[in-house]
Amino acid sequence: MKNENKQEKELPYIMQQYPGLQKIPWISLIDAPTPVHRLNGLEKKLDFYGIYIKRDDKSNPEYGGNKPRKFEFLLGYALKNKKKHILTMGGIGSNHCVANSMFCKQLGLKSVVFLQNQPLTEHVRHNLLLELYYDAKIIHKKTQIGLAMAMIWYMITHWRSYLIWAGGSNKIGTIGFVNGAFELKHQIDEGILPEPDYIFTTTGSSGTTAGLLLGCELAGLKSKIIGVTVSSKQFASRKRAIVLAKKCYQYLREYDSTIPIISENSLEQRLEINTNYFGGTYGIVTDKGKYAVDLIKEIDNMELETTYTGKTLSAMIDFIKKYRETLHNETLLFWNTYSSVDQSEKIKKMDFHNLNHNLHMYFNGSVPLSKKVVKIEKMYD
Ligand SMILES: Cc1ncc(COP(=O)(O)O)c(C=O)c1O
Repeated sequence: MKNENKQEKELPYIMQQYPGLQKIPWISLIDAPTPVHRLNGLEKKLDFYGIYIKRDDKSNPEYGGNKPRKFEFLLGYALKNKKKHILTMGGIGSNHCVANSMFCKQLGLKSVVFLQNQPLTEHVRHNLLLELYYDAKIIHKKTQIGLAMAMIWYMITHWRSYLIWAGGSNKIGTIGFVNGAFELKHQIDEGILPEPDYIFTTTGSSGTTAGLLLGCELAGLKSKIIGVTVSSKQFASRKRAIVLAKKCYQYLREYDSTIPIISENSLEQRLEINTNYFGGTYGIVTDKGKYAVDLIKEIDNMELETTYTGKTLSAMIDFIKKYRETLHNETLLFWNTYSSVDQSEKIKKMDFHNLNHNLHMYFNGSVPLSKKVVKIEKMYD
């Protein structure tokens, strides 16, 4: 964390625009604005010019990606309300749970992560060891009901617990990406990029998508938001993104009634959700996702991964291929939500034997690494 003092650090763009929002608890975690530049290699490869990337991978020097934007408000709330135990949930490879653990450790809070199975990859092992490194309490259960019971029990026995929903996607975490859209508007006004016609982002628990949706509406941008889903309908859906955007909007209006009235219809029209690139199981590798990860590494030296951002980029590539004739001079923005900060030195010091016994199976060969690659048959539609 860089500082906790709103006076020392420039306020989030949205608070500058709407001063009533300065009463919302917030701590500074991101290096704003995150850079924006063209993806020159991809432009050449596709012979399509006007592809930009928003580098949220650089949002925080220790752990970037989309999480720090949400935690500025989530942990701001937790600290203001004197919470001590920060509970959250996700798959065993959840980036959100790692980020929760890291920021909690920096702030002297206890991170408690409730984890469920997902296909085993090296990334999963990496994240489990990082949670160990950041002193998280890890609770692993096979079923959702088991997790829910464990969470309830923990909250009963530890007052001052604060439960952050999966992916940090509640009305408070969503503010981070409303602010992200205002940050983008600022960069457009400075001439760093043209106003995007389309913003491609990953929809996992829907908070990023909901925040950008609401933020672009409030900032008066024309951009259409294309959310590419990477998890089941329960977490990633059009309905969930719209509901979250509306809840966040109502929350913001409670603090500043000068925020303009918006219609549900305009949110609906601005949003497109594409479920074709998911692959059916959270965390599964898809052929198109893997292709996109390898391609962008080779031609633009960008680090993505196969659970989230590779899938989104593959959808954007298909979109360009399909609509190239009608996309005259249009600008596409890929919002990179993945933290590319290399944490491998930290996990080298970690021994999996120090994890709970029931997690050893992910390291000792009892559970094989998933080699499955799902073929995505559809083009963009
Ligand atoms: C790298 C990355 N991108 C995108 C997402 C999805 O964001 P959201 O949960 O806000 O939909 C996640 C969520 O964990 C993530 O780790």
